[in-house]
Amino acid sequence: MRPEPDWLVDEPYTDVDLGVLKSGKEAQINIIERTGHDGRTALVARKRYLPRQVTAKGALEAMGVQQASSFRNDVEYREGRQFRKSRDRRAVERMSAYGKRLLQDRWTGHEHQVMARLWAAGLAVPYPIAYAEDVFDLEYVGDHDGAAPQLHGARLDGPGLANAFDQVVDGLRIVVGEGLAHGDLSAYNLLWWDDRVWFIDFPQAVDLAANPQGLNYLHADVTNVCRWFRRRGLDVDPEEVFADLLVHL
Ligand SMILES: Nc1ncnc2c1ncn2[C@@H]1O[C@H](COP(=O)(O)OP(=O)(O)OP(=O)(O)O)[C@@H](O)[C@H]1O
Ligand SMILES: [Mg+2]
Repeated sequence: MRPEPDWLVDEPYTDVDLGVLKSGKEAQINIIERTGHDGRTALVARKRYLPRQVTAKGALEAMGVQQASSFRNDVEYREGRQFRKSRDRRAVERMSAYGKRLLQDRWTGHEHQVMARLWAAGLAVPYPIAYAEDVFDLEYVGDHDGAAPQLHGARLDGPGLANAFDQVVDGLRIVVGEGLAHGDLSAYNLLWWDDRVWFIDFPQAVDLAANPQGLNYLHADVTNVCRWFRRRGLDVDPEEVFADLLVHL
């Protein structure tokens, strides 16, 4: 069992907000300097989910393709995973006030839960510290000079690239071993730090057994990252990787 970095969560501590690290369409990440009761400090990444525009289906469609598709994903991803009670499932499908609240509330907790599980299984993910409503605190990957680059922006040479790819596949074996698919895996949701590949950004992760689309999401994840490595000149075969992963189910 991996030892929990408990001083990160032990109270009392004081937090100082060092400012915004990234601000995007789905979330804003701030860097927080946390000082524990014994004087030790650590940097924490605070992810704040931007309000999701969950309204009536038609209205969403009218607001633009992107939001409409993220709404569709929301329902699709959640199908078979979260809403086991038929009453809840119906509420989500009908987009009643209760259904909208269900969608909103479960988003944050889900990312925390998935990352806690993967962290315990030994995957290189930032330690998920705590969550509340629309805020999720996690271990910051990087140092005072800067955050870890996304794999996309890390300057890796041939051997470095091959090493990173092996780490991605090893990581995927752990994810699949836990019965999950990331659901949005890309060179933007992988970080490169200390010669390690870190997996991040799990709110849409799905359960492979419960979600009828689970294997499709896994296949898309594999295809997506393999395409990126291929473009960088690494000769990798997505179907081979996918087949290898299925053995770990
Ligand atoms: N724990 C962390 N340590 C260092 N950097 C992080 C951490 N978490 C996120 N980041 C940086 O912030 C970016 C956005 O985070 P994340 O991928 O979790 O959110 P997102 O939903 O993709 O947000 P958006 O779509 O708005 O970019 C990441 O690509 C990464 O560069
Ligand atoms: Mg991301």
